[in-house]
Amino acid sequence: MAQIIAMHSHRGGTGRSTIAANLARLMADEGHRVALVDTDIQSPAAHVLFGDAQAPGHTLADYLIGRCEVEDAAVAMPTAPGGGDLFLVPARAEASGIHEIIAQGYDVGLLREGFDRLIDALRLDILLLDTHAGINNETVTAVASADTLVVVTRSCRLDLTGAGETIEFANQLSCPRRALVVNMVPPGVPDEASRERAERAYGSTVEAVLPYTPELAMVAGARLFADAHPEHPLMERFRKIIPSLIRRR
Ligand SMILES: Nc1ncnc2c1ncn2[C@@H]1O[C@H](COP(=O)(O)OP(=O)(O)OP(=O)(O)O)[C@@H](O)[C@H]1O
Ligand SMILES: [Mg+2]
Repeated sequence: MAQIIAMHSHRGGTGRSTIAANLARLMADEGHRVALVDTDIQSPAAHVLFGDAQAPGHTLADYLIGRCEVEDAAVAMPTAPGGGDLFLVPARAEASGIHEIIAQGYDVGLLREGFDRLIDALRLDILLLDTHAGINNETVTAVASADTLVVVTRSCRLDLTGAGETIEFANQLSCPRRALVVNMVPPGVPDEASRERAERAYGSTVEAVLPYTPELAMVAGARLFADAHPEHPLMERFRKIIPSLIRRR
């Protein structure tokens, strides 16, 4: 059975999309059939992080307003030789996509149906959902659909004050598995200090602590970090998160 993994952060800019894109690629390289769906229609990122890959004219927004089937918006992405398969469903292409969604609205049930249909049509093992920060319709649907919720936070007070709200949100939506990832730990701050702060705020174990990585910032979204720096120690830290996200069969 396919597994759905949703990313979430209380605040923006925590590195959710970057982590989602690289995890999707690593999971596919490990042999899984994976689709990354960018549900962040307000501020899409996934297709940019893959070097501006675009669906042949179709996106998640097109599906939601009835212009195509959801699988028409899935683009096959390169993976390591001998690996699995990776598909990307971009959120939207042009600014007009968000204007149309705002003007017309859409039936939120379509989003959940779209996830199920993608799983069937692409025969997926893993559906990974990137989301907008905070709480909106798409994020609620993504988290409510997920088997595993990945909460990405920085270890600063601004981010950690959202812990209570995130926990309540996840409890209300009954998301069974959770993984807490601390990202962008500043140089000079020990991993353990960041881990402890986050664990105290969330009352749960931190799965991974990821340092602020200048090489990642310098890639500047021009290429996937996994392609630009496959041997970087950060890749090993990404890789180590994967077993905690995937339910054993
Ligand atoms: N560990 C890291 N070290 C350095 N830079 C990072 C790290 N993680 C992410 N970044 C950079 O931080 C910026 C924000 O990352 P990203 O867009 O993935 O965050 P996000 O949480 O998805 O943001 P948004 O809320 O806007 O969707 C990007 O420029 C990214 O390259
Ligand atoms: Mg993002």
